[in-house]
Amino acid sequence: MPDPFPGPDHRRAPLLDALRCYREADFAPFSTPGHKRGAGADPELRELLGSDALASDIPLGGGIDDSHFTGDTLGAAERLAAAAWGADRAFFLLNGSSAGNHAYLLAALNPGDEVVVARDIHKSLLVALILTGARPVYVAPRLHPTLDVGLGVAAADIAAALDAHPAARLVAVVSPSYCGVPSDLAAIARVAHERGVPLYVDEAWGPHFAFHPGLPPSAMASGADGAVVSTHKVLASLTQAAILQVRGDRIDPERVATTVGMANTTSPSVTILASIDACRRQMALFGHALLDRAIVLAEDARTRLRALPGVDVLGADRLGTDAYDRTKLVVDVHGLGMTGFQVERALRERFRVQPEMSDLAGVICLVSVADTTESIGRLVAAFAALADERRPPAEQGATPRSSGAVLTAGIPALSPRDAFFAPSRAVPLRDAAGEVSAELVIPYPPGIPILAPGDVVSAEAVAYLERGAAHGMYVSGAADPTLGTLRILA
Ligand SMILES: Cc1ncc(COP(=O)(O)O)c(C=O)c1O
Repeated sequence: MPDPFPGPDHRRAPLLDALRCYREADFAPFSTPGHKRGAGADPELRELLGSDALASDIPLGGGIDDSHFTGDTLGAAERLAAAAWGADRAFFLLNGSSAGNHAYLLAALNPGDEVVVARDIHKSLLVALILTGARPVYVAPRLHPTLDVGLGVAAADIAAALDAHPAARLVAVVSPSYCGVPSDLAAIARVAHERGVPLYVDEAWGPHFAFHPGLPPSAMASGADGAVVSTHKVLASLTQAAILQVRGDRIDPERVATTVGMANTTSPSVTILASIDACRRQMALFGHALLDRAIVLAEDARTRLRALPGVDVLGADRLGTDAYDRTKLVVDVHGLGMTGFQVERALRERFRVQPEMSDLAGVICLVSVADTTESIGRLVAAFAALADERRPPAEQGATPRSSGAVLTAGIPALSPRDAFFAPSRAVPLRDAAGEVSAELVIPYPPGIPILAPGDVVSAEAVAYLERGAAHGMYVSGAADPTLGTLRILA
């Protein structure tokens, strides 16, 4: 009989196997962590986590492996993950995709190097620019003409930036966006590679793409040289779990291994690592069927939510594109006469439904392999109750959903690193236009920087931030999170 699983045997889960062996061996631990399999833990912690979770909270070295890692259990699990996602090498990350962004850019760039970067980058890529001292050439994402949603960066814009900056050493883009919109990664890879430049994709929100043809093509399948995926975000691994993937040798994989070792903790949590291993097995064996169900449920929710008065939901049809992460429900609540912040509060407090995020225009809800007709029913029923109570919209022309309308392209006055370390002073936000920002200003979520260290502060950015602050937008990065003041270069 032919082997039903040719190639790598995805039924195996080396880290789970090793964890089980460790548990069964009943070692007397004279090693970290100090709670020693829960024996010394606070009783309430033990009650809430369960004694099994604490008993499985053991180190990699000196735990499932000896203290010199001679078993290479992690390596075996990473090789299976590389095969599942179509990469040459995979590195398990314990600080989310943030660690992957830091590690890849530290491997790919030297201080002072130019890097072509999509402007809708996440805070962690900006931190990577500060760490490396590289100089970004920002490329703005295209915007939908009416929806105020980013459409990803265009390959032609990347090509133009590379032609204007032939010394650039890397192209780095975020795809898909927080709203689920991918860039045309195959076209971007082509224009980058034609110029001898590697492509890195922050695919934090696309760990499931590799496992279903109804989702956008994954970064690895599109020819990217490196990509990071947050398996914890939409797949079933534990919070903080992510994978950095590399293909080819435009960037030396051994250098990436070194920088992953710098970005990761030296005390990796076996529970998080084992959850990545389990997630890989689940996706490799059953991903297609599980995602099929998630997509059907999400499309059903989209249809039923759109049928409610005052509610709209983004979709491939609204965007006029084929490629869209159909598991995302980006819900526009403007027609309910409420901000997204108010809707999130009502969903949480009155209906015990928790969206992923809210902004002025709406809320984003994630549908995953865990959802059922029942969970979708609760979500739709909660929105239906809010739609029944709707008021006329207070204000036409909602503030942009994302920061899209105020994202700037071009070259900052200073590199993020130089600006981060330069002397600075605080001024009232309204006086900051025309000055150089000393800090990151990131409305959260979605975590896209409106201002980065080194950017010239535009009048549009000031207006956007003033308006967001007035509506209770949560801002990360800025020294004054109320945005009464902004730090500018002295
Ligand atoms: C585009 C993007 N990249 C990276 C990250 C960081 O991911 P993690 O939270 O897994 O570190 C996020 C988090 O929201 C993100 O949205």
